[in-house]
Amino acid sequence: MSVTILKTSPSTNTEAKNPRFRHGDAIVAFEQTEGRGQRGNRWSSRAGENLTFSLVWEPTFLDAPKQFLLSEAVALALCDTLEKYGIAVAIKWPNDIYAGDRKVCGILIEHFISEGRLSRTIVGIGLNVNQTSFEEWIPNPTSMKLLTEREEDIMAVFNTLYGDLDRRYRQLLEGGAERLQQEYRGRLYRLDEAHTYALPDGSRFEGILRGVEPDGGLIVEHGGTLDRYM
Ligand code: BTN
Repeated sequence: MSVTILKTSPSTNTEAKNPRFRHGDAIVAFEQTEGRGQRGNRWSSRAGENLTFSLVWEPTFLDAPKQFLLSEAVALALCDTLEKYGIAVAIKWPNDIYAGDRKVCGILIEHFISEGRLSRTIVGIGLNVNQTSFEEWIPNPTSMKLLTEREEDIMAVFNTLYGDLDRRYRQLLEGGAERLQQEYRGRLYRLDEAHTYALPDGSRFEGILRGVEPDGGLIVEHGGTLDRYM
């Protein structure tokens, strides 16, 4: 397992696609010039102020339909790490990490499948560490420093998180999927709370988040019935 530290990279997730990186290898960048977020968004992070890295996993023990377990493992590892720094967090489905109503970390996971099994998973993590002001277009950002008023050593945060990611991966590998799913559910942002949800077609409805299905579908109670959203 190797850790490569780059001064600059277009995107560590793109870098991590290089087959020379194998299970457990990580690529950390001081600066990303084309950082990628979920749903084709850009990931903005000021150079040298935050932790931006990608980790390669080769979860060949998992069938492709079980890939959401890896998202759960990653989100829980982030909760483990941030709690060690005294920050209480929740997981906003599917895998944003929230402190209160603000996002402290984003996760971009990319899977590669071979013969129905996961051959390679790239876990991209953008954790806001020491940045205290953000561009206006970023919705609800926060950082560890804004939350604790402490400046952190970014590589020390990486080392803690790298250990927690490995522990959560091993939990899954060693048959802990059910426990992982329970823990993930228990950590959900707005679990059992009434909230107005917006659908992709723009319509809105009042619902109560009740949990997440094994494949990652969100279960929301609405008018006495349980509906599923992906
Ligand atoms: C999100 O939109 O919330 C996901 C953000 C993921 C950002 C990280 S930073 C390291 C890795 N490299 C990228 O280009 N993106 C991910």
